[in-house]
Amino acid sequence: MEEVDERERERETRERTTGPAESDNDKIILCHVRSSSCGPGHFCFCSASFYRPVHLLLDTRRGTSCDIKLCSISRSTQDSPHYNWLREPSTECPHSPGLGFSICCRLADEFLSSHPESESLTIIFTTRSARKAQDTIRGLKAHLSETAPASAARVHFEPESVDLGDLVSVRALSRRLVHSLPRLDAIVLNAGIGGWSGISWPKAIWGVCTDLVHQVTWPSYKLAPVGVLTAKQTKTEEEPALGSIFCANVFGHYMLAHNVTPLLKRAHINGPGRVVWVSSIEGTYKFFKIDDIQGLRTDAPYESSKALTDILALTSNLPSTAPWSVESFSESETELNTHAIHTDAPTASPRSYLSHPGICATSIVPLILPLAWAMIASFWVARILGSPWHPLSTYLGACAPVFLALAPQAMLEAAEEPYHQAGGGRAKWGSSCTRSGVESPASTEVDGWGHGGVVGTPVVEADRLRRRKRGAEYLTREKKEEFEELGRQCWKQMEELRVQWDEILDQAEARS
Ligand SMILES: NC(=O)c1ccc[n+]([C@@H]2O[C@H](COP(=O)([O-])OP(=O)(O)OC[C@H]3O[C@@H](n4cnc5c(N)ncnc54)[C@H](OP(=O)(O)O)[C@@H]3O)[C@@H](O)[C@H]2O)c1
Repeated sequence: MEEVDERERERETRERTTGPAESDNDKIILCHVRSSSCGPGHFCFCSASFYRPVHLLLDTRRGTSCDIKLCSISRSTQDSPHYNWLREPSTECPHSPGLGFSICCRLADEFLSSHPESESLTIIFTTRSARKAQDTIRGLKAHLSETAPASAARVHFEPESVDLGDLVSVRALSRRLVHSLPRLDAIVLNAGIGGWSGISWPKAIWGVCTDLVHQVTWPSYKLAPVGVLTAKQTKTEEEPALGSIFCANVFGHYMLAHNVTPLLKRAHINGPGRVVWVSSIEGTYKFFKIDDIQGLRTDAPYESSKALTDILALTSNLPSTAPWSVESFSESETELNTHAIHTDAPTASPRSYLSHPGICATSIVPLILPLAWAMIASFWVARILGSPWHPLSTYLGACAPVFLALAPQAMLEAAEEPYHQAGGGRAKWGSSCTRSGVESPASTEVDGWGHGGVVGTPVVEADRLRRRKRGAEYLTREKKEEFEELGRQCWKQMEELRVQWDEILDQAEARS
């Protein structure tokens, strides 16, 4: 019965994707979403019930390289309800929509403003429930009908579902995609949970009153329980422990990205397929221990998971990690299954890029209404005082992930070229914002990696001028070597864990 459902689902997926994509000029995107804003009469106490896109997979049916306008808010964008949110936040819900929803909106906007009329785009978004999927489609269509009513028909939205804390669900989504899509240009790994249990209020109040910019950028007052695990993944009696935050923030994404590698390998028009990780400015390897990769023994599991994300993405193209990041992770067993519908040969391995949205006012930190307003006010003040990392609105926060997902390969390479030329590598691209709310993707200094892995003073002038984290030190050769070694060990452990879990899932499937 389940098999029939599965086949039916695949058939539907194939039909719906081949529909609009019959044209050679169609792009397809997949994304996990929640609703755009709180509806009338909804009192938003940060329930998780609104659109929050999680994954974004961009599939180019044909596609040509395009001139994407970055870092500028187009006229249509200024008309967006999300842009307006900055000026007129709703009195019922002060939160910006989830980042993923805004990534979808921004992708659609940037695509329409930069691609010729002959090209179209399909966004496949994933949610955790059918109701959220319906709300999301409505929200996304409403956005388009306001920002680009004449071109709205060129963007198609399609729902999918996945729970990243459930590896069976991740595998099922991967299979549906691999069996129904011809290729993927990019996958944006946006879903995430904070997992915090509360806030140390005395510390928060003191910190915000005495050291506002620092404390609302790199907070030291969030409290989290230690050692929270996911629900059991299979009916197998003995299962290894799987950290809940680790699985939702890193491992679920990691498994999905590995499984859809055959599709990413066929993204040949706008350069190799892209895996765009969404990290946080808070991620620093000081929160991370290599002997506790899942963050099960730390009281900062969120920060640990984001540090791991940084380490994996930033070291993904180093020769020292290649045995795992290229030869193992980018080799998918599902490859064979694709040949029936994928007659074109796979090309280059996908590339990993790292982004973060800055600090946005979403419900990822659950707060009651008055406190949510206080949070937003403190973010505003931080921005006015010169913080480059407070876009507040998720539409502005979506700037860096959208840049990495959509920009032509030549533009991405040009952006990272100064770091490469100075002996560095990948940069961590964050959504930066001026006092007046003009956003741009900007390199973010990473402990142990500096700006783009360049030893010594930053080579890009804007990086030298940007406000730094207090106590940040310029990268030394020794620190860089330590970071690279950490990357090697992380990739090795992640691949071992993936192989172990794939075996467990295979055995569970064979038994059922
Ligand atoms: N907001 C910020 O200032 C900020 C700063 C730095 C980094 N980030 C990062 O940006 C990303 C999005 O954050 P946000 O602020 O938009 O948070 P959010 O509003 O809480 O959205 C998080 C999204 O992740 C989804 N999600 C959580 N666990 C999941 C799971 N097990 N399976 C599938 N989906 C799951 C949620 O789905 P449901 O709707 O089904 O609950 C929701 O859509 C996260 O990775 C976060 O770490 C945010």
